Amino acid sequence: MRVAMIGTGYVGLVSGACFADFGHQVICVDKDAGKIAALERGVMPIYEPGLDDLVANNVKAGRLSFATDLAEPVQSADAVFIAVGTPSRRGDGHADLSYVYAAAREIAASLSGYTVVVTKSTVPVGTGDEVERVIREARPDADFAVVSNPEFLREGAAISDFKRPDRIVVGTEDPRAREVMAELYRPLYLNAAPILYTQRRTSELIKYAANAFLAMKITFINEIADLCEQVGANVQEVARGIGLDNRIGSKFLHAGPGYGGSCFPKDTQALVKTAQDAGVPLRIVETVVAVNDVRKRAMARKVIAALGGAPRGRTAAVLGLTFKPNTDDMRDSPALAIVTALEDAGVTVRAYDPEGMEHARALLPNVTYCEGPYQAAEGADVLVIVTEWDAFRALDFARLKTIMNQPALVDLRNIYRSDDVAKAGFTYTCVGRG
Ligand code: UDX
Repeated sequence: MRVAMIGTGYVGLVSGACFADFGHQVICVDKDAGKIAALERGVMPIYEPGLDDLVANNVKAGRLSFATDLAEPVQSADAVFIAVGTPSRRGDGHADLSYVYAAAREIAASLSGYTVVVTKSTVPVGTGDEVERVIREARPDADFAVVSNPEFLREGAAISDFKRPDRIVVGTEDPRAREVMAELYRPLYLNAAPILYTQRRTSELIKYAANAFLAMKITFINEIADLCEQVGANVQEVARGIGLDNRIGSKFLHAGPGYGGSCFPKDTQALVKTAQDAGVPLRIVETVVAVNDVRKRAMARKVIAALGGAPRGRTAAVLGLTFKPNTDDMRDSPALAIVTALEDAGVTVRAYDPEGMEHARALLPNVTYCEGPYQAAEGADVLVIVTEWDAFRALDFARLKTIMNQPALVDLRNIYRSDDVAKAGFTYTCVGRG
């Protein structure tokens, strides 16, 4: 199959490279000439484990190429994927669809022969209808179908999520489009990954419902963690105890500083808006959004408590700034709210993150950025683990004790055992474990 992937952001680039790896002929298109030139030199615009090799191998094999103009790639494509951004619209929280519709208009001009136009971007229910209308209006003669095919890729694990998905969702009422999609995903189908064919609107909603449900699971366990702290229970054991029930499942029950990232915050907010507009407010999701919002900043209170309630003039060493490990993504990272709240309270923040510091510098300009956890800890009154990078899982506490001003650890990801930390002579604060 010949594929044109419009947008070389996180989703477009990973999906394009994976389709090429399946043996399809893929051209990834982006208006950003700098990005395309860098990709042609083998320089990735994002940090994603394994992506540079995957791209390099498929470019070398002649299955993957890059372009800044979509006309030729679209003309020759069997399937054109729209994988452009759908950020939160400033002011009202609705998804901003201007990039999607702009892409649709441009695609329309170059369609030739039967083409499946696939929305990969996360788009509110009904967007497929609008994309179809935009294309039909511009090209009444065109032979095409618009399909919804949401992505369920986690940053840091995107390639394996693409290649070994729990399911593939394809929303279309067009039998020809279904055949094209089946052919595109055939390698996975052979791996027995279930493909769920459904109506386009249903498919669009599946994506939002999945993300909202996962965000709800995290928020639920976070609230249970707070309760555990008050009543002397252990949230990790509660999570295990409920997660072993197959109806609940053990995943996404890690208590922490609140969810962040490029998807959950934006998608839960957009779903809330869609539901309100439809006259069916989703109260649970509204609460999840509100609870998660206040949680991030509230985590700073744990740090202030670890400083004996006297933050002014003290120093905190923050380990991990990205919203989760194995990414350089700072979007809606809990670290942003936590560091800002600490600075507001008069705390000086030193920080280290293996991949996120370049982006963090622009967002948190008052932080002193360090070259490793030990440099960050020098002279600090408290060490705060915000993101659970592997590099922070076996810290040398004896060494930390000699360089810190005071041996205190706030572990917002529960990656240490309180006994071990206490044995090392540190005070220990964690999440929901008494
Ligand atoms: C998510 C979805 O998992 C993916 O299917 C979707 O397509 C895009 O959004 P991603 O944002 O990359 O992926 O990360 P994910 O691993 O889901 O984590 C999201 C946030 O939730 C992170 O801030 C993470 O730290 C937090 N989280 C996750 C928890 O706090 N506890 C958990 O148990 C799981």
